[in-house]
Amino acid sequence: MTSRSEIRFVVNDRDVTLTAVGANDTLMDHLRIDRRLTGTKEGCAEGDCGACTVLAGRLRNGALHYEPVNSCIRLTASLDGCHVVTIEHLSGPDGRLHPVQQAMVDHHGSQCGFCTPGFVMSLYALWMENPDPSETEIETALQGNLCRCTGYEPIIKAAKAATALGSPSDDALVRERASMTARLAELRDGKRVEVSGDGGRCVLPASVDDLAEVLLETPDATIVAGATDVGLWVTKFLRDISPVVFLSHLDELRRLTVTDEAITMGAGVSYTDSRAAMADDYPHLGPFWDRIAGWQIRSMGTIGGNVANGSPIGDTPPVLIALGASVTLRKGPERRTVAIEDFFIDYGKQDMAKGEFLESITVPRPSARASHAAYKISKRRDEDISSVCAAFNITVEDGAITDARIAFGGMAATPKRATNAEAALVGAAWSEATLLNAAARLGADFSPLTDWRASSEYRLQVSKNLFRRFWLEHEDGAAPVRLSA
Ligand SMILES: Cc1cc2nc3c(=O)[nH]c(=O)nc-3n(C[C@H](O)[C@H](O)[C@H](O)COP(=O)(O)OP(=O)(O)OC[C@H]3O[C@@H](n4cnc5c(N)ncnc54)[C@H](O)[C@@H]3O)c2cc1C
Ligand code: FES
Ligand code: FES
Repeated sequence: MTSRSEIRFVVNDRDVTLTAVGANDTLMDHLRIDRRLTGTKEGCAEGDCGACTVLAGRLRNGALHYEPVNSCIRLTASLDGCHVVTIEHLSGPDGRLHPVQQAMVDHHGSQCGFCTPGFVMSLYALWMENPDPSETEIETALQGNLCRCTGYEPIIKAAKAATALGSPSDDALVRERASMTARLAELRDGKRVEVSGDGGRCVLPASVDDLAEVLLETPDATIVAGATDVGLWVTKFLRDISPVVFLSHLDELRRLTVTDEAITMGAGVSYTDSRAAMADDYPHLGPFWDRIAGWQIRSMGTIGGNVANGSPIGDTPPVLIALGASVTLRKGPERRTVAIEDFFIDYGKQDMAKGEFLESITVPRPSARASHAAYKISKRRDEDISSVCAAFNITVEDGAITDARIAFGGMAATPKRATNAEAALVGAAWSEATLLNAAARLGADFSPLTDWRASSEYRLQVSKNLFRRFWLEHEDGAAPVRLSA
């Protein structure tokens, strides 16, 4: 395998080539320290506040697609072949403000100004994708941006007003899309990339086969997909993560295939890219997906990372367990497939050997007789981690429950099925009394922890209440009728 020993990308209109890049170097530091592009701000350094938002454009099936990302936790090496757009690129050559910036001025969308570049970048991404958004679409786009001064109302007004001030067809990124696409295509030479710096060594395999080879050679390497977990190991825990193997170039892992039987998502499919396929089949998952983090994290974070990380409070594992999903793992040329519920062994321990990686996740298509729900209970509605997450998949035939898969997050050391509660449901009549009887068995399934998110008693009570809620939402026996929240 021929390799290249430099990272190449474009920042605004400037080509960047870096020969020394460490495993823990962040895009934020590159922009602010190396390039002096200080419009991008550092607030939290953990993906929460959005002050560091920039756009990352990458080629997807030959087409250039831009998405907002958190530069504070985006690792620099993962930008190879990308176009990074910062706030400095928005105003015209004559200094004229961009329509989104002008709308923020006109509607007093900025006070202390610290959050403003991040808001403008998220609004810019929205304006390019959807220049006439509804209030809900604006709020969804801004879930990953925090402002301590304005109360948000002026920013939302600015988002609505931007459309009257200019059209995306006149925007530089749209006008120059063809030339930037050609420029990025040239950077993608199909080679393995290997670079090192003060923070250690980075490898970007050229293909999934190459990834399998690299991991056999370096079984202790840290695999990095979206870095929405790993980025925090760097910025908050100051962990040495070298050597790092980035999945950034592996389009094969971003593939999403839908057959009559199943939806198969490559482990590198982002939250954003998986939403449509999952919500088409399981409509209750659309609003549930929108409760995961904010737009920036949903663009970066992958389903594979959410599963492989094995967190007891990850949002997709309970849903995937309830839907009967399986995961395919690969080591060298060997593949094996396991039920996802068996993948989670204990706290921090997954069924994945050294040198092995998660290749794909397969979700069965829905049965017409099943009713589904997914509930996220968190302190804040937006951009928060679950205290409890629950997913229900219950089949009723001729007034009796014939199948039940119910899984919880936040209730045990791993995401886990409520097997005692399920046993109380299967074979019983479809009634409120049956659901409440099953809820009463939850104490045999779980002894949740008390932590700063919620007490043990709260977690158990809210979980029981969700059985009642499921009944109230589905008592007429219809397939998914209500939205999760
Ligand atoms: C601000 C913020 C908000 C968040 N909100 C939520 C939320 O609401 N709900 C939620 O569930 N999570 C949330 N998260 C957590 C995070 O987004 C997820 O866990 C995410 O899915 C991880 O995916 P990633 O691609 O970023 O993984 P990475 O950070 O790249 O990796 C995570 C782990 O998985 C391993 N890994 C990744 N891909 C593979 C693979 N293919 N094979 C083997 N191992 C692999 C890595 O080695 C690492 O151990 C949030 C994170 C942040 C920073
Ligand atoms: S600095 Fe807060 S999200 Fe990056
Ligand atoms: S204007 Fe001060 S934080 Fe938003």
